[in-house]
Amino acid sequence: MSDTATPENTLTRPAQTATGASPSTRDIDATMNTRLAALHTPKLRDEYGQQGSFLYIEDFLPRDYTERLIAAVHDVMPAVNRNYLPGHKAGGSVSRHTLDKLAPFIADLYRSEALIKWLETITGDKLQLSPEDDPHAYALYFYTRPGDHIGWHYDTSYYEGRRYTLLLGVIDDSSCRLDYELHTKTPGIPDQPGSVQYPPGAFVFFDGDKLRHRITPLGENEMRVSLTFEYVTNPSMRPFQRFISNMKDSIAYFGFRQVFRRKSGKTGQA
Ligand SMILES: [Fe+2]
Repeated sequence: MSDTATPENTLTRPAQTATGASPSTRDIDATMNTRLAALHTPKLRDEYGQQGSFLYIEDFLPRDYTERLIAAVHDVMPAVNRNYLPGHKAGGSVSRHTLDKLAPFIADLYRSEALIKWLETITGDKLQLSPEDDPHAYALYFYTRPGDHIGWHYDTSYYEGRRYTLLLGVIDDSSCRLDYELHTKTPGIPDQPGSVQYPPGAFVFFDGDKLRHRITPLGENEMRVSLTFEYVTNPSMRPFQRFISNMKDSIAYFGFRQVFRRKSGKTGQA
């Protein structure tokens, strides 16, 4: 039952906004509309297409939003879940369930209609929020110990539709780089390597099934925190895909308690 799309998952938000949006949500939309209007969207849309569904913008978030995200990082520090997968990944994560309680600004920013509409313009896809029980919908990734990293991978969609990843830089006192390869799934176009060290407030956006990428290891006395938002085109998921996705999230990211907390009988409706 939890695999089916619910009204909360779909972007039927105008009614919600018209009648019941919190002031903070309206403020966020106004601020993001102003910020996004200053971007050269047609040029960025072309760039996204030419790069095989990948876009990087170094100066994206309003400065005070970046500062609010940095403050949120300090609020959630005690709740970081550390994971280690030998040869593939080491680092910490805070799932959407914890952010809902400790950093609601992040949840509001994730749901910003202005942001989502702009991403729809970039992708040409109708985007939906990730389901209530997906811990990746919005999450913070922590690189705090020497060697923290994640190896080469795709952000594979276990959903019926596409899964888009938006990364926002929050803290980067590190030498870590996001290395990536464009066009790996595009016949007739050679792979194109790239690398970026995205600073606080920067934007990285891609189709998870198309961008091969990694984060290089953290050095001594370094720290890095990144925020991820996940949007999908169809939030349905088949049971076997659900099982694989849950196991991966439990082991590699958030721990079993966070991932399976929704199975305890609560509907998760706010
Ligand atoms: Fe990734």
